[in-house]
Amino acid sequence: MTVSTITKMTAPPSTAYKIVDVPEAYADVIKRHGIAGTFVGSAEQESPWVPFGPNAAIRHLLFDTRHNIFSNILWIKSAGVIGTHKHRGTVVMMCLEGSARYLEYDWVAGPGAFIYETPGLIHTLVSDHPNGVKLFGWLQGPLEFYDDNGNFVETVDVWWFINHYESYCREHNIPINKQLYI
Ligand SMILES: [Fe+2]
Repeated sequence: MTVSTITKMTAPPSTAYKIVDVPEAYADVIKRHGIAGTFVGSAEQESPWVPFGPNAAIRHLLFDTRHNIFSNILWIKSAGVIGTHKHRGTVVMMCLEGSARYLEYDWVAGPGAFIYETPGLIHTLVSDHPNGVKLFGWLQGPLEFYDDNGNFVETVDVWWFINHYESYCREHNIPINKQLYI
């Protein structure tokens, strides 16, 4: 492709308010082997806030057991601490409300801030905000939690998060939402 034939796309060209039939060479393969996406609405019936210690809750959004990926919103309800942990995988986070930071770093994440965490990081999450923080997270791989003295406490991974969600649903007669599992 020469420079002159490159189209500069400033925005998607399709503006018609309709479903467009797009060619796909492997449509039959995708039909047989593709995995549907998912959707979880904002209502509590679709995924409840599950307590995570006395001052926090987790709203589970997705479990991918093939890749040990789990997505959720972590809500620290007032100024407080989520314990020291070590990452064995990667984490993508976005601050939705309030603020949070790590004792180990000099930044503070407010609404709209983006956080990326990598294998090997060890840090302690805190919120100094009176209303705490809500953090959207897309997490891959296990995290290890440690106590105040640096003693290993437990590993949390996709199995831990599924159990956290399902145990709460069973105890409160809330139907398991299949949309959370891909
Ligand atoms: Fe972390």
